[in-house]
Amino acid sequence: MSYMFQFFSLKTIHLPKFAAMKNLALHILDIVHNSIRAEATLVDIYLYQSQKKNTIELVIKDDGKGMSQEMLDRVTDPYTTSRRERKVGLGISLLKQNAEQAGGSFSISSGEGRGTMINATFQLDHLDTPPLGDIIDTIVTLTTGNPKADFIYSHITDQGEYTYDSRKVKEVLEDVPIYDSQVVTFLREMLRENIEENCGVESL
Ligand SMILES: Nc1ncnc2c1ncn2[C@@H]1O[C@H](COP(=O)(O)OP(=O)(O)O)[C@@H](O)[C@H]1O
Ligand SMILES: [Mg+2]
Repeated sequence: MSYMFQFFSLKTIHLPKFAAMKNLALHILDIVHNSIRAEATLVDIYLYQSQKKNTIELVIKDDGKGMSQEMLDRVTDPYTTSRRERKVGLGISLLKQNAEQAGGSFSISSGEGRGTMINATFQLDHLDTPPLGDIIDTIVTLTTGNPKADFIYSHITDQGEYTYDSRKVKEVLEDVPIYDSQVVTFLREMLRENIEENCGVESL
């Protein structure tokens, strides 16, 4: 197996820590992966893209085990991102750095047993603001790849909003597993149509 092939196949399973996050969808996938590792049962993702306010606001909230103050200090410290010096990766500090570089801001709150909430904003028209990326793929991948957890995804623009809730999908599916290939196709279409219609998005 060639090195390149290994690299790409790794990327589809879970993001290698050295990969630069090129778009918001990949940031979301990466950040929510932390929530899953923290045994979250419900992850709430909120993305508000506003031309009027010239911002993109991203909030990711989970009910996982949270982290200690000591860990919290380390994950947000931009000067200790070298992985040789600490046993944590780069996902959170990379999001913080990307948001701040794009005229935005970053904040995180967490506590043991209290879950975690991450808030990142970007200036919409800033040159360094990453594109949205394949947000539908991210939401579908999260839902079908983690059948035990649930996900709420709210996509908001100045035109309107759409909220996806995997719990409602599972209710309708009854005994059909959420990772069933027909469900995957259905979910993609459902998300695409609803976001396009409700949020005035041209094409996703
Ligand atoms: N949602 C979360 N809940 C609990 N702990 C978290 C969460 N997100 C991050 N952490 C802790 O912070 C560490 C750093 O996260 P991150 O920057 O994404 O790097 P990595 O995931 O590669 O370790 C994680 O290893 C984990 O211990
Ligand atoms: Mg991570």
